[in-house]
Amino acid sequence: MALTIAASDVICVQYIHWYVKSNIFSMVNFLIFGPPGSGKGTQSVKLAEKFNLSHLSTGDMLRAEIAAGTELGKRMSSIMSKGELVPDEVVIEMIASRIDSTRDRTGFLFDGFPRTVAQTVALEKMLNDRKMKIDSMLVLDVDHDELVKRLVARAELSGRPDDKDPSVIENRIDVYKEKTEPIINYCRERGIYQPVNGVGSIDDIFRRLSKYIKKLI
Ligand code: AP5
Ligand code: MG
Repeated sequence: MALTIAASDVICVQYIHWYVKSNIFSMVNFLIFGPPGSGKGTQSVKLAEKFNLSHLSTGDMLRAEIAAGTELGKRMSSIMSKGELVPDEVVIEMIASRIDSTRDRTGFLFDGFPRTVAQTVALEKMLNDRKMKIDSMLVLDVDHDELVKRLVARAELSGRPDDKDPSVIENRIDVYKEKTEPIINYCRERGIYQPVNGVGSIDDIFRRLSKYIKKLI
């Protein structure tokens, strides 16, 4: 039996190829990184809007679980109010469940994730499996006193239990240094580490970050 390929079949294959390419392979993915209070959330909202990025914040996702009174939220709430990290598998699962539901964006902007080298390895695998990668790690550099000043000031308005107690703020910064900062070396070795001065006006910092994002998209 002769095999015939209709023009419509060719167009269909070309469309699938274009769709897959335009929706997966061209996504450009960023980590916005830095200690508590460095401005990750503030800048992520603005950058996501400007560059059509999908903003994934594990802190926001966990606080949404707590606000909704879910079992997971109840279990995580006491860990978060002490300023400790929740287990790796909890946040990895949260991110994995979001990655496949986003295809119409320029890329992902991961905020507050990864927080450990194990989370970084898991994220790289998730992205590699989908023919993507972490394209750049933007690290907001802010000194200790400025971090504390910002978080103490926010405590009045945010209602975040982890902002209320100065010893919890200090613990969050210590946990960052001990468990999260090692990711910087991991990313530096991969050539994707980009430090950014995180002190100044919100608009100035936004311009600094935008410059690095524009270079890649
Ligand atoms: P998360 O929600 O990620 O909090 P965080 O890292 O402690 O950082 P913040 O959200 O407090 O600070 P930010 O850098 O986003 O700064 P922001 O823009 O808000 O995590 C909370 C907890 O959840 C963790 O402790 C952990 O328990 C758990 N968790 C989350 N992710 C996890 C993970 N992957 N693994 C394990 N556990 C996880 O700014 C701070 C303040 O400063 C604001 O009031 C803002 O208005 C102000 N501000 C911002 N920019 C400026 C500026 N340029 N000048 C003056 N003020 C400024
Ligand atoms: Mg934040």
